Amino acid sequence: MTTVKLSEPEWAHLPEYQDARDLLAFIPQAPTAYQAVRVLSERLREAGFTPYNPGSLAPLEPGDQGFIQFNGSALLAFSIGQSPLETFRLVGAHTDSPGLKIKPNPIVYGASSARLATEVYGGPLLNTWFDRPLSLAGRAALRSQDPLRPRLAEVDFKRPILILPSLAIHLNRQANDGVKIERQKVLNPILTLSDNSGADGGSSLQPDLLTEALAELLGTDTAEILDYDLFAYDCTPPEIIGLHQEFINAPRLDNLGLCLSAVQALIKISCFDGPLHRGIAVVMLTDNEEVGSRSKQGAASAILRDSLELLQLACGGDRQSFLRSLPQSFMISADQAHGVHPNYPEVADANCRPLLNQGPVIKSAANQSYTSDADSSAVILDLCQRNHIPCQRFVNRSDLPGGSTIGPVSSTFLPLRSVDVGNPLWAMHSIRETAGCLDQHYSGKLFEAFWQA
Ligand code: CO
Repeated sequence: MTTVKLSEPEWAHLPEYQDARDLLAFIPQAPTAYQAVRVLSERLREAGFTPYNPGSLAPLEPGDQGFIQFNGSALLAFSIGQSPLETFRLVGAHTDSPGLKIKPNPIVYGASSARLATEVYGGPLLNTWFDRPLSLAGRAALRSQDPLRPRLAEVDFKRPILILPSLAIHLNRQANDGVKIERQKVLNPILTLSDNSGADGGSSLQPDLLTEALAELLGTDTAEILDYDLFAYDCTPPEIIGLHQEFINAPRLDNLGLCLSAVQALIKISCFDGPLHRGIAVVMLTDNEEVGSRSKQGAASAILRDSLELLQLACGGDRQSFLRSLPQSFMISADQAHGVHPNYPEVADANCRPLLNQGPVIKSAANQSYTSDADSSAVILDLCQRNHIPCQRFVNRSDLPGGSTIGPVSSTFLPLRSVDVGNPLWAMHSIRETAGCLDQHYSGKLFEAFWQA
């Protein structure tokens, strides 16, 4: 009998796989955009980046590094290089992921249970949310001295407190032929058993079950909790899987994989011993991409444009130098891509079929739902070739609409050359997505090469 070697493979110790391991550690720390921004800010701080108040216009010079937070859920990190007034080199990604957001007054009683009412955030594959142990995370707003400035506290229950059970096959024999998910009726995960049969919903002045649990978690009184932004999340740890441990299976790979990749690459180039990179290198991580980016912390806001201008002013530039630098600047809009699915190869284009572990994917669309064009794609193709990074192409089937991302939104406000790039995934927007371990390394290498070119 032959046995398959299941112990840790040799590659696990190769530097190429360290990035996948790093991602494996990062994802459970970042159940929502708030935690993602805090954890990435901590990493930047450890690497010598300091919090920067753009309004202060504190002077910046080559070699300076900093970061700016917006709403606790968006983050801009920068490194000032040589000739900072000449060009910006940006990598953009998004911090949010599709899922279930807890409604106000969420407790629903009935059938001897207490459930939490949710609304759908973005476009999750809803059927994947059933039968998985779920936890809750986000932030709570607490009473403070100043009514206009509530105290914001991060929340993460960290343990499975919710479950959304499927209906048994015996009670719906059509379940395997596709079931319509009635959002208002069935997306109410169960919190606990309860005899309470009354409609509660917290409309009474009594604190509800969730507020009580939050108060206990935060070590405060229920009366201090005014509101919250909470999301359900899959709290089963991510794993490296596959016969040869070649895949990473995790929640929120779209787009935490590329948020981490971009921040790590920026840290590497700014701590690099060699010559300083050119221009101002920027990582912009915006929130709310999954719901269209139209929020004050989203890519359709003025935060990126305003921040870039303020960075230039702090470097000694003016409005004129800022406007002059934009056509000289370049952005990689980094968001995950679709790998060709072996069980559904027919939904991929005949000639552009991204494979896992075969490198970053340049995404193009004639309708400009991706920003890539010949000029900007050529930059990535050449950078990859020069740096021995494999590279792939994606385009939609002509009869499928496909998706979009932050690139086209940002380009509307910033006339920069831009390209859309991502790593190939399976099951995008499932509660668990699957990517190639090596691709996490390749995307980081590409970003480093971009800033150092
Ligand atoms: Co995305």
